[in-house]
Amino acid sequence: MAEKPWGGRFTQKTDDLAEEFTSSISFDKRLYRCDIKGSMAYCEALAKAGILSREERGKILQALKETEEEIERGEFSFSNCWEDIHMHIEQRLQEKIGEVGGKLHTGRSRNDQISLDMRLYLKEGVLSILDLVKELQTSLVKQAAKYINSIMPGYTHLRKAQPILFSHHLMAYYEMFKRDRERLTDALRRIDVLPLGSGALAGSPYPIDRDYLAELLGFAEISQNSIDAVGNRDFVVEFLSHCALIMMHLSRLCEEFIIWSSAEAGFLHLPQSLCTGSSIMPQKENPDVLELIRAKTGRVYGALVSLLTILKALPLAYNRDLQEDKEPMFDTVDTVKNSLKIMAKLLDGIEVNQERMRAAAAEGFTNATDLADYLVLNGIPFRKAHQVAGKVVQYAEERDKKLEDLSLAQLQSFSPAIKEDVFDYIRIESSVDHRQTIGGTARQRVAEQIKRAQKELAC
Ligand code: ARG
Repeated sequence: MAEKPWGGRFTQKTDDLAEEFTSSISFDKRLYRCDIKGSMAYCEALAKAGILSREERGKILQALKETEEEIERGEFSFSNCWEDIHMHIEQRLQEKIGEVGGKLHTGRSRNDQISLDMRLYLKEGVLSILDLVKELQTSLVKQAAKYINSIMPGYTHLRKAQPILFSHHLMAYYEMFKRDRERLTDALRRIDVLPLGSGALAGSPYPIDRDYLAELLGFAEISQNSIDAVGNRDFVVEFLSHCALIMMHLSRLCEEFIIWSSAEAGFLHLPQSLCTGSSIMPQKENPDVLELIRAKTGRVYGALVSLLTILKALPLAYNRDLQEDKEPMFDTVDTVKNSLKIMAKLLDGIEVNQERMRAAAAEGFTNATDLADYLVLNGIPFRKAHQVAGKVVQYAEERDKKLEDLSLAQLQSFSPAIKEDVFDYIRIESSVDHRQTIGGTARQRVAEQIKRAQKELAC
């Protein structure tokens, strides 16, 4: 059994079960690129500080490069014996170049190293999630523009409320995802901080130029407290919480698409290539993709709660508990990316049944508010107008009619303020177009929303 890098003071061999239990290599090996990138920069900083000679620097950089290539080609062998990715790479370095390889860890600890790796990894992860959210927004805007004038029932309490434009409803999601992008972009500022040079917790006795390291590794800032740098993971919590919100937004969209594509609603068809069948019922076309995104939201919430719980009451600075932060983080990056990707694809493939949607919007007295508004325009206070319109609804319902199917005389029996022009006012197209406030469902307003969004997406 090879000796551990930390084995100097040990007289007993590590128990096999403990070795397996404490090892993180099975999941942290995906940090190898970040780890090597960090090590290369650290090698430069050591050389700059006069700790490595030119020759030693060259050897270490070359060995690191080769190690990366070996991992990439699948020729690298991983073993629980070397615990984590940091020790694996360091071990390989020593196999390749002997004792010189052992100089790389001068003044460095795996504690600042792992925080660095995670930050490098998350920076990339966040950038690709930001791109994918943007792509989803683009799909939303495309469909909104395509179906700009389609009217659907708007709901509150999942009961028909007022007619709205389908495009308006889609654009509501555009806004949610816009805030998601803002939050992630903001979180990036706190991820983009270099922890390297903090050592185990107290800083480094070697003259490591941390600004130089930050420049080499592309960090905007350097951490200002070494204890905080190695012990904090709030940058990961923040990331997970913003991802939880993204998934929550996705899950709401999924739920609506599931409802809208049901035979009962019939508002839209999902692309068949993204549906799955039943092994027993030949007629089925199930929205499993949407259901899975909806469910994966739970996974991401779980990751957030898991890390918050890991961190709760954890004394400063580094504790091995912090090793448990990686799986939730990796799983969240994967889950969010996959969910966003397939949701955009699904959105691109939907087909809207515009007639059916419009017909549904015209049912259920969705223009009752418009009748009340009509009365207000004709001098009746809103509370009274609400009551009168309510009575008209009751009257029409008893006769199984819509408001617009009643005769003028029937309507006038509720209020003499009602004139012939009421019929035009309570048409569902009018209902939509009357809502001209900024952000309202009027066609012109939604067209403006779409235009603004297109401009935002172009930059
Ligand atoms: N594998 C460890 C982690 O993920 C790396 C840091 C280990 N540090 C230590 N002192 N044991 O947190």
